[in-house]
Amino acid sequence: MTNNSNSEDIAAARIQELRELIQYHNERYYSLDSPEIPDADYDALFRELNQLEQLHPNLITADSPTQTVGGTTINTFEEVVHRTPMMSLDNSFSIEQLEAWADRVRKGLQEEKTDPQWVCELKFDGLAVSLIYEEGKLVQAATRGDGTTGEDVTANVQTIKSIPHRLPEKAPAFLEVRGEVYMSLTAFVELNKSQQSSGEKTYANPRNTAAGSLRQKDSKITATRNLSFWAYAVGGIEGQELQDSHLDTLHFLKELGLPVNEKAKKFEDFSSVIDFINQIEKTRHDLDYEIDGVVVKVDALSMQDTLGATARAPRWAMAYKLPPEEQTTTLLDIEVSIGAGGQATPFARLNPVVVGGSTVSTATLHNSDQVEAKDVRPGDTVIVRKAGDVIPEVVRPVLSERHPDSTPWKFPTHCPVCESLLVRPQGEAATFCPNHACPAQVRGRISHFVSRGAMDIEGFGEQTVDLFVSQGLISDVADIFTLDMERIAKFEGFGETSINNLKTAIEESKNQPLGRLLFGLRIPHVGTTVADLVARSFKNLDGLEQATIEDLEEVEGLGPVIAASIHDWLREKHNQQLLSKIREAEINLTAVSSSISSTETQLLEGMSIVVTGTLSVMKREEAKAAILERGGKSPGSVSSSTTFLVAGEGGGSKLLKAESLNIPVLDEESFIQLLKTGKVSDSN
Ligand code: IVH
Repeated sequence: MTNNSNSEDIAAARIQELRELIQYHNERYYSLDSPEIPDADYDALFRELNQLEQLHPNLITADSPTQTVGGTTINTFEEVVHRTPMMSLDNSFSIEQLEAWADRVRKGLQEEKTDPQWVCELKFDGLAVSLIYEEGKLVQAATRGDGTTGEDVTANVQTIKSIPHRLPEKAPAFLEVRGEVYMSLTAFVELNKSQQSSGEKTYANPRNTAAGSLRQKDSKITATRNLSFWAYAVGGIEGQELQDSHLDTLHFLKELGLPVNEKAKKFEDFSSVIDFINQIEKTRHDLDYEIDGVVVKVDALSMQDTLGATARAPRWAMAYKLPPEEQTTTLLDIEVSIGAGGQATPFARLNPVVVGGSTVSTATLHNSDQVEAKDVRPGDTVIVRKAGDVIPEVVRPVLSERHPDSTPWKFPTHCPVCESLLVRPQGEAATFCPNHACPAQVRGRISHFVSRGAMDIEGFGEQTVDLFVSQGLISDVADIFTLDMERIAKFEGFGETSINNLKTAIEESKNQPLGRLLFGLRIPHVGTTVADLVARSFKNLDGLEQATIEDLEEVEGLGPVIAASIHDWLREKHNQQLLSKIREAEINLTAVSSSISSTETQLLEGMSIVVTGTLSVMKREEAKAAILERGGKSPGSVSSSTTFLVAGEGGGSKLLKAESLNIPVLDEESFIQLLKTGKVSDSN
């Protein structure tokens, strides 16, 4: 009791201090235009206040900086429920896939008297918004959000110069315009130049910068970001009728003064669609904005109605994703990094180059065979490729530009961190540092243990791990639970609050289910799914430790290799010592999180729920973990025994398979409902 009220008093004092500090810096920044501290420091203060308020909700006051912006009281953006859902698009990655879609469309339109016509548009790489005009006046702008509910960003959208606040007289009584907010390359380069000259951080790519700019709590900041907009659809109209044509709809929007991209074109036959794509592929770099594909749509709105939509995307439209982008640059050097398991991975240091919208200065070379096969050498001009969020890769050297004196690169014989002799086990592509105590490995193991998919200990970033390891505070993951906080308090940057936050995060992690712990321990071949399976099968650590190889092999989904790996790992002397240290820390060693109720653990029993694509509210592993925690299964592929497919953004082939097998597809909202109640509403 005394302890609780003590910590509450400390929190209240720090909260008060933070509020005063933030208010002071707000004034310097917004009113005096003369900030005293970098944004990152300001953000850290804000985050600290937010975290403390989350821990002590009774201390939140209406005038706290977390609840107000420039005088108006807003915590987050207001929610907007879209009148009709804002759907996603299905993707094709080859012309064959696109043609297969066109065939499906023709089939779906067999009853129609005429063949469909196709409209091709660019696929703008920004973020979707809905604009509502009532009696010609822009009254609301919202982000797509989860498709059903978005965020009200009206004040911010009003700062986008090309979006009219008023439409001409002839506008319908009600009009919902849908389109993409984006940042032009010119605006992006300008913004980064100004950031650089004022010593601020530069932004990685136009898309994320546009998204961040649109979600600013202060629209004055959005106004400085020079965002743009392309309208590409009508979400709803009252008081007038649209022509039965998507291209005519675009012309209609243009006549109302909305920005419509001039590249949109209509074609009679599909071979012209393919010609259009080829031409865009060649000229995409001439554009002053980024695109990630071409969208092909059935032109007649009546045909679009006939074709309808799946839970996620219309059947009448398809995105053709352009292949990843490539650039050339100089390979400055090849270095080797040591991973948590000791793998020595070569990577290229590059002269920084913008590829696929973001600056790339390092790229993986995977292993020594790959370096040899590609024969890339320091000093070479190389081709670098980046596809979406995928790690950048060195494709090949440009031989015509190679220096005549260049010699092949040789894999180092010794670990660059601890200087142990590197080993390459026979038959394996990877090379390893065999020293378990190598600081790079220790850091890697700890970083993995605290990561989101494992024990999820917040505030334990790479720098903190580096500091604690180099200061000798931690040498294995169990040391996290006996950290000497008094020593840490002496380090720069570790005030009372950050120490308290760290303590809380560590304490909370002790409730994680056993699966998280097993995954965190990096047992060879044990990923999140296997870790959860094993934990649930043996219920607790004691049960698992007593299991024979045969018991392990009996677990559905475990083969002899994984079974032996787990069995051997548990019997290795160092690992046993580690486990006994972990036991002493009194952490939860049962398959169920100590913070989930026992009724919840049965909620999804008997269900097999596959997750695909990118979810906005949680990571895919978290979604899977949530299913497993509630007694369900979450295999990696769709089959006839799948109960539901949860489809996030970009979940291509699994979605097609689910549709062909008539498996119900859930969007994120229905999935959350399923997790809470064990049921989904009938509309799914
Ligand atoms: S039409 C119901 N047209 O792509 C279909 N979307 O991956 C609505 N996008 O959320 C979308 N350019 O943000 C359409 N010319 C275009 C587009 C486009 C970009 C985005 C949009 C959508 C995402 C789906």
